[in-house]
Amino acid sequence: GAAQPVIVAIDGPSGTGKSSTSKAVAAQLGLSYLDTGAQYRAITWWMVTNGIDIEDPTAIAAVAGKAEILSGTDPAHPTITVDGVDVAGPIRTQEVTSRVSAVSAVPEVRARITELQRSLAADAEHGIVVEGRDIGTTVLPDADLKIFLTASAEARAARRSGELKGADVASTREALIQRDAADSSRKTSPLAKADDAVEVDTTELTLAQVIECVVTLVEEKRAGK
Ligand code: DC
Repeated sequence: GAAQPVIVAIDGPSGTGKSSTSKAVAAQLGLSYLDTGAQYRAITWWMVTNGIDIEDPTAIAAVAGKAEILSGTDPAHPTITVDGVDVAGPIRTQEVTSRVSAVSAVPEVRARITELQRSLAADAEHGIVVEGRDIGTTVLPDADLKIFLTASAEARAARRSGELKGADVASTREALIQRDAADSSRKTSPLAKADDAVEVDTTELTLAQVIECVVTLVEEKRAGK
């Protein structure tokens, strides 16, 4: 008969290849895919667009439920809309990136987004790969497989500045380290490795090797090893 849905949590800091890995693994295994960072970026975009004071957690909390955020979970064509507007481009701007840690630290924002994530995971017919910072620890503590991706700060900065086309490595490295420090030190579900997560250091690995490693781990789980 049909395989049981499989839930895979992939967490780790920025620049470890989480998105590329998660998308490819989901596509290869016929699973849905959810980029939870895109959801936090989307709500941050809404706050910025509506003139909410990002320095004021009370103001953010008061409107945390207002934006309607929809995520399309096809790994070949992931989508994200806010109140019906396609925000895939705008959520990647420097303006949103520099504010997303502050917005995502607000407990009311996390509660709202976590609820969306759990419902998408529950609805995924064949299962889902969910990537983020707190998926294995908080959002889906019963995931079938938890992966924690790491890489040296140098490798992460080099990959990220490559993605940003020509951004200089030194300033990318500083911004990335600051964002990871903020994400790791916040009170509500910080970036953290779950006790039962498999840690994969990607510093010396190609993307293809990381994908193969995770696919193998999922297949072993499915085979009941
Ligand atoms: O993965 P990303 O860089 O697009 O994520 C953007 C920000 O969203 C990240 O700096 C912290 C926040 N985030 C979070 O708090 N929890 C998650 N599960 C995913 C992202």
